[in-house]
Amino acid sequence: MPIREIVALPNPVLRRKARPVTEFGPALQILVDDMIETMRQAPGVGLAAPQVGVSDRVIVVEYPADDEQEDSPKKLYVVVNPEIKEISTETEPGIEGCLSIPGLQGEVERSLSVTVKGRTRRGQPLKIKAKGWLARIFQHEVDHLEGVVFTDRATKVWKPEPDEPVLDNV
Ligand code: NI
Repeated sequence: MPIREIVALPNPVLRRKARPVTEFGPALQILVDDMIETMRQAPGVGLAAPQVGVSDRVIVVEYPADDEQEDSPKKLYVVVNPEIKEISTETEPGIEGCLSIPGLQGEVERSLSVTVKGRTRRGQPLKIKAKGWLARIFQHEVDHLEGVVFTDRATKVWKPEPDEPVLDNV
């Protein structure tokens, strides 16, 4: 499973609306495996296909299902053609960084909970209910498929000081 190069702004693939996936064959399986490996190596907690230069609607996320619970194990999510179906009106600010925008952080207001619908890597229907940071990661990754990056939504953006804690990148 080769690690792919993560592309950064101003690469135009990050500004394109990604194509829906219609074939769940070997090419998709290779892309998904490579994205998982690339996310882990970065390291990151989420990655969207445009971040490896592929304009397809595929995201991978690896994060504890409930990060408020101590020792909650990390869970891997692969979602093809993800859509955010239910989104809480209640929002909260959080600090985000992105593997495709190195050296910047921003404060972004996101919904507290979402329901993500899509397909598994084998084409089966999939539904995920997420809250807190997991919900934030899904919102960030689905934005990537629309050509939207966190700096578009951020209320403020800054270069982190060397002593600021390192964020989980997405
Ligand atoms: Ni990102």
